[in-house]
Amino acid sequence: MANNILIAPSILAADFSKIGQEVTDVLSAGADWVHLDVMDGHFVPNISFGPVIIEKLRPLTDAVFDTHLMIAPCDPYLEAFARAGSDLITIHAEASPHMHRSLQAIRSLGKKAGVAINPGTPVSALEHVVDLVDMILIMSVNPGFGGQKYISESANKVAQVAALIGDRDIRIQVDGGITAQTAPLVVNAGADVLVAGSAIYDGRGKDSYAKNISAIRAAL
Ligand code: DX5
Ligand code: ZN
Repeated sequence: MANNILIAPSILAADFSKIGQEVTDVLSAGADWVHLDVMDGHFVPNISFGPVIIEKLRPLTDAVFDTHLMIAPCDPYLEAFARAGSDLITIHAEASPHMHRSLQAIRSLGKKAGVAINPGTPVSALEHVVDLVDMILIMSVNPGFGGQKYISESANKVAQVAALIGDRDIRIQVDGGITAQTAPLVVNAGADVLVAGSAIYDGRGKDSYAKNISAIRAAL
């Protein structure tokens, strides 16, 4: 089971003055995906980066680019994030009044589609879009910032998502406050993609990142 768990470091916690190196370092340290947190200062109270950064990073690796859009509206920007080189685009259920249409739009751009819910949003919000997604993201902190404390109710929500998915081929991602201590809680509930920012980009350089990734894997 633990072998199927993917680790997706969030570059939000990386050193942006050398972001390309930070991405290649974390991948050579054993990361599976690159998690790209896009924030607009409107849907969430922070601003990060847009498609230009993703486009510049794209030639550095073939690893899956997992773009987490914390923006509202999202529809006008889906094509730009697809063109920039995202492999998977996750929108927030709370950010799109036409979530169903937005998810269809992502797939029609040839990308995998994900949907995220905030800690205050029930899993039932996803009941009618489950056949349109490749991944469901349970936020285990309120989105906007790295380094926050894991919200313990999240594992129950992961278990509810696992029940909703049944035998469909849909990944369950958890994002926020994931460490070697909290990772087993969500994996035991059914999560199979772990996003971690501060727990992985702790220390500097490939060796630190490899140690941090190994600590999470060893805890599973
Ligand atoms: C939060 C972001 C996360 C964040 C995770 O809004 O979506 O991806 O960077 O950071 P940590 O792992 O530090 O909680
Ligand atoms: Zn994220």
